[in-house]
Amino acid sequence: MNEVIQNILTRRSVRTYQEKQISDDDLNAILEAAKFAPSGMGKQSWHFTAVQNKEIMDKLVSAVKEALQSSEVEQLKKMGNNPAFNPFYHAPTIILTAYDRNAQTGVSDCAVALQNMFLAAHSLNIGSCWIHILAITGNDPKVRSILTELGIPEDYDLSGTAALGYNSKEAPKAAPRKEGTVTIIK
Ligand SMILES: Cc1cc2nc3c(=O)[nH]c(=O)nc-3n(C[C@H](O)[C@H](O)[C@H](O)COP(=O)(O)O)c2cc1C
Repeated sequence: MNEVIQNILTRRSVRTYQEKQISDDDLNAILEAAKFAPSGMGKQSWHFTAVQNKEIMDKLVSAVKEALQSSEVEQLKKMGNNPAFNPFYHAPTIILTAYDRNAQTGVSDCAVALQNMFLAAHSLNIGSCWIHILAITGNDPKVRSILTELGIPEDYDLSGTAALGYNSKEAPKAAPRKEGTVTIIK
């Protein structure tokens, strides 16, 4: 099997991270992979914000949890009230993706960029996970003010966040693939 397909098949979401930071070269390679993802009409409607500052991450986590506490969705409220809950799993690097609200394919553009990042990270032996929490809470006023401080334009909405770092446990096995999800017509 060729290396690219092997990389796709062996990537898993990682939720336990070492404190060790990834190198700047690796971070830049992962961001470059994101920038080279396909995008609707080639518009590259995305903005990527890499955060490696623990103080800023802690501030963001607190604001996100506060927003979740007033959610009407019981499961989200529970997460917000759980003192042990850290949506980013204490990953040493997170890359926020945001998209121009006026772009027609912003959500999809960010999704393909995220997958490029996950695959690039995996090829560098770096673990990753899609974190959805900012897509849910990104427009909460307190969360938004932090995102604005980080330079995310007001007319950009948040999509997934990539958590990145070295896995501190063995990667979990892939769940069995669902049957009947493919039709081939010749
Ligand atoms: C749109 C999307 C949102 C996700 N959100 C989260 C999330 O908020 N937290 C999390 O731990 N994993 C999240 N995941 C990761 C999935 O749980 C994971 O991909 C799935 O369980 C399959 O496992 P695998 O990635 O190891 O193949 C998300 C994945 C996708 C595609």
